[in-house]
Amino acid sequence: MRGAERKAGAMAIERVGVVGGGQMGGGIAEVCAKAGIDTVVVEVSDELIDRSRAQIEASMLKAVDKGKLDQAGFEAALDNVSFAVSIDDLADRQLVIEAVVENLSVKHELFGRLDEIVEADGAILASNTSSIPITQIAGATGRPGSVVGMHFFNPAQVMPLVEVVSTVVSDGEVVERAATFAEAQLGKVVVRAKDRAGFIVNKLLCPYIFEAIRMYEEGFATKEDIDAAMVNGAGYPMGPLTLADLVGNDTMLAVSESFMEEYQDPKYAAPPLLRRMVEAGLLGRKTGRGFYEY
Ligand code: CAA
Ligand code: NAD
Repeated sequence: MRGAERKAGAMAIERVGVVGGGQMGGGIAEVCAKAGIDTVVVEVSDELIDRSRAQIEASMLKAVDKGKLDQAGFEAALDNVSFAVSIDDLADRQLVIEAVVENLSVKHELFGRLDEIVEADGAILASNTSSIPITQIAGATGRPGSVVGMHFFNPAQVMPLVEVVSTVVSDGEVVERAATFAEAQLGKVVVRAKDRAGFIVNKLLCPYIFEAIRMYEEGFATKEDIDAAMVNGAGYPMGPLTLADLVGNDTMLAVSESFMEEYQDPKYAAPPLLRRMVEAGLLGRKTGRGFYEY
């Protein structure tokens, strides 16, 4: 056994909680369940649990279709996921990954409650936030050293990267354990980032998407041409407006707000069109309409 594997074995995490079973939480739960980890997903209602379960099952079936998972693996992975409407069910979790809406007050309240509930020895509390500084979230708990960022990418079941984010008060061993978990147990590629809004990827990616929205808003080019240009001319798998629809325009707007608070630089400002679309409910794929119709 190699040193890294031995270390991963000794520190293995067997019980994970995921709060929020939407597109990211569902994907993260799928990744954990396929890695053989007992995973509890918390959602706010039975209806949303049904939606989350259906999303996870459909995605795992796609993995079977694509030859990425065999039938036995599919059944085992489904067995590894359970659902709850109360975060009280997360008391024994060794790692909880929060993936609720991109809103500091919602995350703050949630981490305050997780702090009271999660009692496993050395438990890690992680946020999948796109842009909110982890320090602000950790401040809701009495154990900020145990709070880190674990930022997965959309779709989490396909994209290899996890950004592991440490704060000035994160416990080094906690950060190492979170990184080892993502790398050795989930098979992800890990990069580490300090706690600045947007970490590495979003700090680079989001201004590009905002600029594409401004370009479209100004009538510089059609949305189809902007997207086709970046796919065919820059090698991106999807164009920036298609990507905004995938991420969710509500999340894009929330990211812009965190960035403006952190950097006060107009390159991060939300284009008025993005605001109007969110106000009109054109959130992208999740509502069936954004820059495109689905
Ligand atoms: N489990 C495992 N693998 C799966 C899977 C599953 N459930 N579902 C699909 N796959 C695999 C497929 O087998 C396929 O693999 P191969 O290439 O080896 O065949 C691959 O995933 C993609 O296949 P699909 O047919 O599902 O989809 P596609 O080829 O149309 O690609 C896409 C879809 C992956 C979304 C691609 O368009 C893409 O990479 N787009 C860019 C996504 C991106 O930029 N994400 C980051 C957004 S920003 C973010 O996430 C941060 C934030 O905070 C906002
Ligand atoms: P989403 O809207 O698809 O899902 C959020 C889910 O959280 C919803 O199903 C909602 O019912 C649930 N929820 C809200 N409050 C809750 C609570 N108190 N307890 C339990 N569940 C609750 O959003 P998403 O796109 O999955 O984003 C979730 C988080 O992940 C955000 O912080 C976002 O910034 C981040 N993120 C998003 C992407 C992306 O591309 N969408 C990528 C990486 C990170």
